[in-house]
Amino acid sequence: MSQATNQSWGGRFSEPTDAFVARFTASVNFDQRLAPQDIQGSIAHATMLARVGVLTDDERDAIINGLNEIQGEIERGEFNWSVPLEDVHMNIEARLTEKIGITGKKLHTGRSRNDQVATDIRLFMRDEIDVIEVELKRLREGMIELADREAETIMPGFTHLQTAQPVTFGHHILAWQEMLARDHERLLDCRKRVNVMPLGAAALAGTTYPIDRHVTAELLGFDRPSENSLDAVSDRDFAIEFTSFASILLMHLSRMSEELVLWTSAQFNFIDLPDRFCTGSSIMPQKKNPDVPELVRGKTGRVYGHLMSLLTLMKSQPLAYNKDNQEDKEPLFDAVDTVRDCLKAFADMVPAIEPKKASMYEAARRGFSTATDLADYLVRKGVAFRDAHEIVGQSVAYGLKTEKDLSEMSLDELQQFSATIEQDVFEVLTLEGSVAARNHIGGTAPNQVRAAAQRAREALSALKAGA
Ligand code: ARG
Repeated sequence: MSQATNQSWGGRFSEPTDAFVARFTASVNFDQRLAPQDIQGSIAHATMLARVGVLTDDERDAIINGLNEIQGEIERGEFNWSVPLEDVHMNIEARLTEKIGITGKKLHTGRSRNDQVATDIRLFMRDEIDVIEVELKRLREGMIELADREAETIMPGFTHLQTAQPVTFGHHILAWQEMLARDHERLLDCRKRVNVMPLGAAALAGTTYPIDRHVTAELLGFDRPSENSLDAVSDRDFAIEFTSFASILLMHLSRMSEELVLWTSAQFNFIDLPDRFCTGSSIMPQKKNPDVPELVRGKTGRVYGHLMSLLTLMKSQPLAYNKDNQEDKEPLFDAVDTVRDCLKAFADMVPAIEPKKASMYEAARRGFSTATDLADYLVRKGVAFRDAHEIVGQSVAYGLKTEKDLSEMSLDELQQFSATIEQDVFEVLTLEGSVAARNHIGGTAPNQVRAAAQRAREALSALKAGA
């Protein structure tokens, strides 16, 4: 082998790699993050090779001890990562051979970096999905408890960002929780397809050694070995599925962030966010900015970008492995980090939201939010809905002119618009009466919100128990 070429594949080369090309094609600066999974995969592979008689038990033990030592070197920051060695896989293998000699060179028997890297990323994604799931559960729990506490707190509900009908704050928070429940399902569904083992596909066609892929799969906790070697080394659907889950999740967190930003403004004044989630301004001493939700809203864009990167990365690749695939890692790593951090920020922040109840209540009283209730009242008294709509429209126009909410008008004033209106109208014109009347599954009545919170709690713990 030529001295100046890469020691892992230099055999057929007659001149060294161009220095720029070596740097351009290397991935070690970012894929060293996969080292724990790479070592885990190699240990399982060596164990299986010994089980089927391709390695001796002594060779297996030397390899496993060497890999464990390398793991320690990496954790202590003592490992010398080399760009000429291209990637995490060859860095670790070269170090193993340095440590244990010729036996180190036997580790790569019956595998290729193509099935190795696909396995590493799947192990990595499985670990990260499990961490992300813990944060997602914590956030959902926080929302459910906040909703339960605020089941009776009244706020205006909006359509077109115009006051529509009164709702309870708990109901609004449970709407967020529903979004996350769907995200949670998507995450767990994605995990099923992540947890399939490519190892054994080797470069693309499988290997001539008598490997036992079921053994390796079991050692690594995979549900099963992949069915087709060509697909196994080239498939990155799971990465696209994850970033697609991440994009939808961030879209939801961004919507919630937008509401938090609006609600903390002096104009809405619906909530207070504790100081620890906010920052000040270097010039305007009065400012308290909702940086955390703003930043989550901002980070949504980069996650959408990663989804586009990965879809585009895959769209024209012929079977099987292509070097293009090396570009899967940075978007995926950043998507994972962004999701985990945004969920952590939200899980910490949501239980600390302090609703300003009086101010929400006042806002619900303005804007004629019980107009529909008045119309429904008239319908119950025999007026056709379209006529009721017209009568209430006239009452609202009068209210706008006299600066009075419907509930602030006297019976005489209301009766100008319809003689059908009687003293009992004031029961439906109150905010409490309005929310309590929406008393069915999915409605905003406080008892329904409490029941919904309880169902959500049960659904979440069933998920925990079921895995
Ligand atoms: N660094 C490569 C990647 O990230 C590993 C696989 C390389 N395989 C190869 N035949 N060049 O995809």
